[in-house]
Amino acid sequence: MQTQSFEERPHVYRPGTGPVLLMLHGTGGNETDIVSLADALDPDAAVLSPRGTVTENGMLRFFRRMGEGVFDVDDVIAKAGDLAGFVTWAREHYELGDRPMIAVGFSNGANIGLALGMLHPDVIQRVIAFSGMYPFADRPTPLQLEGSRMLVLGGDADAMAPAASGDRLEAELTRVGAAVERQLRAGGHGIAEQEVARARAWLSE
Ligand code: MLT
Repeated sequence: MQTQSFEERPHVYRPGTGPVLLMLHGTGGNETDIVSLADALDPDAAVLSPRGTVTENGMLRFFRRMGEGVFDVDDVIAKAGDLAGFVTWAREHYELGDRPMIAVGFSNGANIGLALGMLHPDVIQRVIAFSGMYPFADRPTPLQLEGSRMLVLGGDADAMAPAASGDRLEAELTRVGAAVERQLRAGGHGIAEQEVARARAWLSE
């Protein structure tokens, strides 16, 4: 259920001349700390960075989970719908017109960004996921996504977002027609400099 109006939802908006980057923080992060990633990707970008509406032991998140890596998929779907509503509101409120918007998320933010792009391609068609996972557990991706582009970045030894879930994500996105690029680097959960460089290049394509 939508409990806050979109206007009341805590968020950062920073105008810019480039594309609009929808920045989505990880568990325990917030809407301000993820802005530095936007700066690293494109210092000219406009930034829209909402706060996750769920708390888990005092940490902010974007959807509920039963345990690490075990998602409440109905809540993923509900919160992706809320986020789609917020983005639609923000597009009008900040007079963004039809400027391109790309969701960029880390960890839990990557997972909600992927869910948003996979369930609401009318709102978001491009997603960059750092250390993300397939967000719908054993459920298939419901929509065809021929117009969508996704960049999936992660580590081959990530215990939080296992590479096998990234494989599933890549396979599902491909099955539904999205243009997906995947880069698997050595290492665990996090954002590597080489991934930021890859994302920057992907954004400018
Ligand atoms: C999630 O819950 O979305 C993932 O396990 C990653 C995280 O802890 O943020």
